Amino acid sequence: MKGVIVAGGSGTRLRPLTDLVNKHLLPVGGYPMIHYALAKMAEAGIREVLLITGKASAGLFTQYIGSGEPWEIQVTYRIQERPGGIAEAVSLAEGFIRPGDKFVVLLGDNLFEDSLAAAVSEFQEQPTGARVFLKEVPDPRRYGVPVLRDGRIVSIEEKPENPPSTYCVTGIYMYDAGVFGEIRQVTRSARGELEITDVNNRYAAAGLLQYGMLEGWWADAGTPRSLLEAGLRLMKGES
Ligand code: G1P
Repeated sequence: MKGVIVAGGSGTRLRPLTDLVNKHLLPVGGYPMIHYALAKMAEAGIREVLLITGKASAGLFTQYIGSGEPWEIQVTYRIQERPGGIAEAVSLAEGFIRPGDKFVVLLGDNLFEDSLAAAVSEFQEQPTGARVFLKEVPDPRRYGVPVLRDGRIVSIEEKPENPPSTYCVTGIYMYDAGVFGEIRQVTRSARGELEITDVNNRYAAAGLLQYGMLEGWWADAGTPRSLLEAGLRLMKGES
């Protein structure tokens, strides 16, 4: 199975740190953030990764990652011209994924403990559909939140005022190649982006959205505080 890392975006919540450099290159726990997504792909047995980022820091990504050799991954790159949402970034992987294949998507600012190796093998066996990964969080309003009924995700609400559950849909996704057709069906949200939640909701409506639960710690390192907390957790793991 191949992998896609989404590492674009404007990193608004991390300004002014991100005035200088793309969020995914900021230091966290001893490495530039992007290291961890690559390490997670390698740990899951994924050997071919497409990294999607913006123009501004692209040179720094290639400088740090190169061909991907240190992670034993073959890395290729695609540029997202302007921040247009996660689903738009994923659509850029269409030429990288063969029809009929499945792939993993990681948001580069999602840092976590669990290995994805078992889930990758399981998803490989799943004939079609998509899979998301949930984590119980203290403030679900910051995230995509699943509506759960009878052990299924009925739908996902993006950053709801009144969260329908205490879970967050993390930035770890698995898709069949049908996702590109689904992305073409979604329209831009109020924030002008193609939302991954809208894509996932199409799978949910078709009864094709599975989920797994993360057991270890998870962080979206999109704010100064969560960046610091994630760094501490990562360093604890190393000591
Ligand atoms: C994105 C997704 C959201 C998800 C989150 C996880 O939010 O839209 O559903 O819960 O990533 O990190 P964003 O970070 O773009 O606000």
